[in-house]
Amino acid sequence: RFGVLPVKAFAAVVAILLAAPVSAATISISCGAVGQELELCREGAEAWAEESGHEVRIVSTPNSTTDRLALYPQMLAAGAGDIDVYQIDVVWPGILAPHLIDLAPFSDGAEAAHLPAVVANNTVDGELKAMPWFTDAGLLFYRRDLLEKHGEQVPETWEELAATAARVVEAERAEGDDALRGFVFQGKAYEGLTTNALEWIASHGGGTIVDDAGAITIDNPAAAEALAEAASWVGTIAPEGVLAYTEEEARGVFQSGRAVFMRNWPYAWALAQAGESPVRARVGVAALPKGGPEGTHVGTLGGYQLAVSRYSESPEIAADLVMHLTGEEEQKRRAIAGAFNPTIAALYEDADVLAAVPFLASLRETVTNAVARPSGVTGEDYNKVSAAFWGTVHEVLAGQAEPEPALARLARDLARIRRDGW
Ligand code: GLC
Repeated sequence: RFGVLPVKAFAAVVAILLAAPVSAATISISCGAVGQELELCREGAEAWAEESGHEVRIVSTPNSTTDRLALYPQMLAAGAGDIDVYQIDVVWPGILAPHLIDLAPFSDGAEAAHLPAVVANNTVDGELKAMPWFTDAGLLFYRRDLLEKHGEQVPETWEELAATAARVVEAERAEGDDALRGFVFQGKAYEGLTTNALEWIASHGGGTIVDDAGAITIDNPAAAEALAEAASWVGTIAPEGVLAYTEEEARGVFQSGRAVFMRNWPYAWALAQAGESPVRARVGVAALPKGGPEGTHVGTLGGYQLAVSRYSESPEIAADLVMHLTGEEEQKRRAIAGAFNPTIAALYEDADVLAAVPFLASLRETVTNAVARPSGVTGEDYNKVSAAFWGTVHEVLAGQAEPEPALARLARDLARIRRDGW
């Protein structure tokens, strides 16, 4: 009888020790900060910390995905375990794979619920290098109120977009609105321009720069025609400043009511619809225009994944955070609060998600079948390929080069990059 109390107390202590994490770790996660990204990342990571007893440290990264990529090798090289979890662009698995662990041993098969194309994109040499977090596709945002007011339709082709934009701007100008512009997009020399220009070119039937077999296809008449058309927008329907715009500059102009059309990613929807937005309830979303009556609607595939650094001191705990953030509950929360499109297929049928992001139903094809950049086939060379491409496109937009000779030169530059194979 004497022994009962101490034995009970001992059992209680053992129970507490077993329940507590082996030792609490601090996991650092690098998140993007475009629009609401940082806030949503922090909320999700802190909820995990609360639940798991671990701590999180949020490290914010630059808005331009190109600047972010430039930073990652330094972070990976300098600090070994400094950052445990990396938010990586859909075009980076081939570039960053050597620095990332295989997540399959930690996923419990969760990847089976995600869009297969994205899982395949994130699998390098048979290893699951990153879990899909959200998917992106380029979309056309338009001012529904202005199109209705002037009796205009949502444009089906780029030509119609330019003509509609010019008419609406002219009519509004006649009523005294001098600030309104026709079209804003991402024209700065960085990865965002690659995504925009791929849409112009692919929608004209001009291919995807490099095809799936690795052949360089960019030097073709449809691509040249697409670039000539885009160059004609700069300084006419689009402000000259578009040559320095990333996503957020374009959104700033559109959301403050100063553009009829905008090309952007789904996240811009949640912000356009937010309580304080000047264009709230006046915005429509459609597939991007076709490159002429024979062309197709094309949105470039984008999106982000979460990956665990090979140099993390707590890979298992870091992977647990990744599984939490990429899981169904968190993807649903982010879709509703931020229009970050899920990578979990079932959420495209979820009534709460569809109510918050109505275009997920009408544009499901566009969003889930977007056109990929040639990052899979070019692997670790992708950023060089993209940089050569966006550099050339920027010169054409700025009027410093003519499309045909510029694309011929680009094809030669790409062949040099490919010299030892992709
Ligand atoms: C978005 C996309 C990403 C793309 C980037 C270009 O963030 O999700 O895939 O590379 O835009 O600016």
